[in-house]
Amino acid sequence: MREILASLTAAILLLAAPTASTSAPYFRVLAPAEESFMGAEDVLIIGKVEGFVEAKMVEISDNGKTLGFAPLQKETFTFKTRLSEGRHEVVLAAPGVERKTIRIFIGKQTGYRYHIDIDPGACDSCHDQAASKVFAVGPMQQKTCAQCHDPMATREFVHGPVAAGSCTPCHDAHGSKYGKFLVATGKELCLSCHSQNLSRKHIEERQNAECVKCHDPHSSAKNYHLR
Ligand code: HEC
Ligand code: HEC
Ligand code: HEC
Ligand code: HEC
Ligand code: HEC
Repeated sequence: MREILASLTAAILLLAAPTASTSAPYFRVLAPAEESFMGAEDVLIIGKVEGFVEAKMVEISDNGKTLGFAPLQKETFTFKTRLSEGRHEVVLAAPGVERKTIRIFIGKQTGYRYHIDIDPGACDSCHDQAASKVFAVGPMQQKTCAQCHDPMATREFVHGPVAAGSCTPCHDAHGSKYGKFLVATGKELCLSCHSQNLSRKHIEERQNAECVKCHDPHSSAKNYHLR
């Protein structure tokens, strides 16, 4: 059962990973999340171009007006700006790359929060940039996170992804519109890995229950990761 689940997870992770196909380069926005509600604060856009690209600059425009240009380094760019209250259509453009639009709402209704200090100089706390600017994270993310947090694997039964050293299947390292910087809410999070397995009956029975009320998502002293 564990083996099936583990290989299933591997398959899911493989499917979720952007494939290095022959398709045209495209923008991937790491922060903020699309359709984000944000307070009147500075906005830091972190983006990446997937696939080989000749472009050196990304043009960032807001509601049709150019805000500025951000240099692309190792396919990555950051752009910090302050947006006025209201609805914003931020368009990212670079030669040879499919344009990308992200919608941001600035106002009293907040939702998205940055996890990180949005000073572009603060990326180093997780990305060792001394050697290069590729924004790589070592395979054991846990170590990265453990600089500031409990490593979450101290009890006897360690949950699969945590045991593998990874935190980002569930947490967005840059920011999120959900509590605890989660990538999804409630059972959706668990079902991203546990939908097709033998536990289906159990999960169906608990459809509307909060999974983490009974299960600890990190590690537990009890079997089945029970609290
Ligand atoms: C709290 C730790 C942390 C901080 C601070 C942080 N990142 Fe990250 N970043 C990560 C993790 C972890 C990943 C890997 C995410 C994954 O595997 O899904 C990542 C992934 C990335 C990637 C994608 C790399 C790839 O090839 O897929 C880029 C680009 C990036 N970060 C840019 C930045 C920039 C720019 C900053 C500073 C403004 C920053 N990050 C600050 C933790 C952090
Ligand atoms: C440089 C220090 C630092 C690193 C490294 C770091 N964090 Fe954080 N983290 C913080 C701070 C500070 C907060 C509180 C910020 C807030 O709530 O706005 C926080 C909050 C959180 C929270 C919410 C905690 C709560 O009780 O609400 C989660 C979850 C989290 N971080 C996960 C991670 C993960 C996963 C990683 C690794 C990818 C990571 N952090 C790396 C500093 C860090
Ligand atoms: C399987 C999904 C999953 C993985 C993997 C995961 N977390 Fe969490 N994490 C959660 C959930 C869900 C919560 C909220 C728990 C709650 O609401 O009781 C949470 C909460 C947290 C908190 C807030 C404090 C707390 O205990 O509630 C921190 C800090 C945190 N996680 C850090 C990490 C770190 C570091 C890693 C990697 C070692 C990690 N998480 C891996 C799902 C996960
Ligand atoms: C990234 C994929 C992933 C996510 C997301 C995930 N799990 Fe898991 N889970 C696994 C893997 C892999 C195993 C098998 C290894 C193990 O037993 O720890 C597992 C095992 C379990 C087990 C123990 C099964 C057994 O037979 O002992 C429980 C209970 C569980 N997960 C609950 C949850 C809950 C609750 C959530 C949502 C908070 C969740 N999982 C989210 C990958 C995931
Ligand atoms: C009321 C408490 C409770 C809630 C809520 C709950 N579980 Fe469980 N879960 C258990 C118990 C107890 C077990 C131990 C085996 C059993 O009794 O079925 C278990 C076992 C599991 C297992 C491993 C056993 C198997 O059938 O393979 C997984 C995976 C799991 N739960 C996931 C989830 C997910 C995902 C959710 C949210 C949809 C959830 N659980 C909600 C109590 C709960």
